[in-house]
Amino acid sequence: MKVLLIGNGARENALAWKIVNSPSFKNSGSVLYAAPGNPGINKFANPVNIASTDIQSLKNFALNEKIDFTVVGPEIPLSIGIVDEFEKEGLKIFGPSKAAAEIETSKVFSKELMQKYSVPTAKFKAFNTENLGELSSFIDEVNYPVVIKADGLAAGKGVIICNDDSDVESCIKDLTENKIFGEAGLNFVAEQFLTGNEVSLFIITDGEDFVVLPPAQDYKRIFEEDKGKNTGGMGAFTPAVKFCNDEVLKKAEEKIIKPVLSALKKEGRNYKGCLYAGLMITEEKEPFVIEFNCRFGDPETQAVLTLIDSDFLELLMASSENKIKDYSLKIKNAFAGCVVLASLGYPDEFEKGKLISGLENIDNNVHVFHAGTSEMHGKIFTNGGRVISVVSCSEKSFNSAFENIYCAIEKIDFENKYFRRDIGKIVL
Ligand code: AMP
Ligand code: GLY
Repeated sequence: MKVLLIGNGARENALAWKIVNSPSFKNSGSVLYAAPGNPGINKFANPVNIASTDIQSLKNFALNEKIDFTVVGPEIPLSIGIVDEFEKEGLKIFGPSKAAAEIETSKVFSKELMQKYSVPTAKFKAFNTENLGELSSFIDEVNYPVVIKADGLAAGKGVIICNDDSDVESCIKDLTENKIFGEAGLNFVAEQFLTGNEVSLFIITDGEDFVVLPPAQDYKRIFEEDKGKNTGGMGAFTPAVKFCNDEVLKKAEEKIIKPVLSALKKEGRNYKGCLYAGLMITEEKEPFVIEFNCRFGDPETQAVLTLIDSDFLELLMASSENKIKDYSLKIKNAFAGCVVLASLGYPDEFEKGKLISGLENIDNNVHVFHAGTSEMHGKIFTNGGRVISVVSCSEKSFNSAFENIYCAIEKIDFENKYFRRDIGKIVL
């Protein structure tokens, strides 16, 4: 079998590792290709020099090489219709159609869908340049803090929390006059601020049936104690049963997952692939949707995949072939964590091109998944904000998983290395 993986982050490095270690892949002499790949992914895959957004070239490659199955990591190719284009040619692919992916790519669509089908989420109102005058009465209704979210994709940065009128004023100016998110910010939603514990759920579905992977918690802020700017994610742990036990999971299935999948189907946007539900679990143990994404989360995936014991490639194929009903998901009774090594300055300005040393000294109870790295003459250099995900899974405890991770981090070095030292602390 020939499998093509699209993307070049640490999430895709973890997907590559898990795909090639799936019995259905290993036992059939299969080959993995990755477009465009990165030095970590390329340990498992043949690199293909095509950008993940160049859908025509990806499709031609898949047709010429007779690719049997394609797995899409990031949201951008999904948002521009890679699944629709591949399926038109009869190519099998894991992920949602462009119309279904709007659950992530349009906050307005996603919030209106939840409202229409009574899915628990923060109170909200959609705004554009025409109805800005109604914003202050909405704020009077929900009180401060209020959350403002740009409608379109904004690389994880389109969420602004406003604590008072002057925050709102400058936020609206940034969105509509300074256009800091371009067109994505001209439509936005304002919503009530929810409190509680955030959990990420990955739902693998064929549109009808689904399985839920172990809940994870992501650390979104750049600094320890959840201070500073939002990032793509600085670390994660799973299973997050401390916040999302079986009882909460059951509520999430009944009140969120089943209604949303059936709503998408009813609206003619049947959802296949991984649906990421970012949930706020309130003090009363009630799950509310913060956001949906149309793909696996990064860095949660790097930890979550280490807990899967059943054939992962078969799971992805079952989603595309409408066979989730027949798939038996097996999860290890273990504890996994991920800590992201970033370039100092991220998520703002940072330097690239720093030599990374120590990668050869890592014990085999740790995975090093590459994100922003590049390779030159056999040496690895930093090439992005989030550089490497360091991951470990322990059958003993979270303590032992994070001990392995932080011990590996001591060995990996590059100039301006930055990481949070408090990942997983809450479960130790
Ligand atoms: P999003 O991109 O929608 O996931 O938002 C990024 C982060 O902003 C979330 O992970 C939360 O930490 C925070 N956030 C978003 N919406 C809300 C909300 N309604 N209440 C509280 N925090 C929120
Ligand atoms: N970890 C957050 C995300 O993938 O969107």
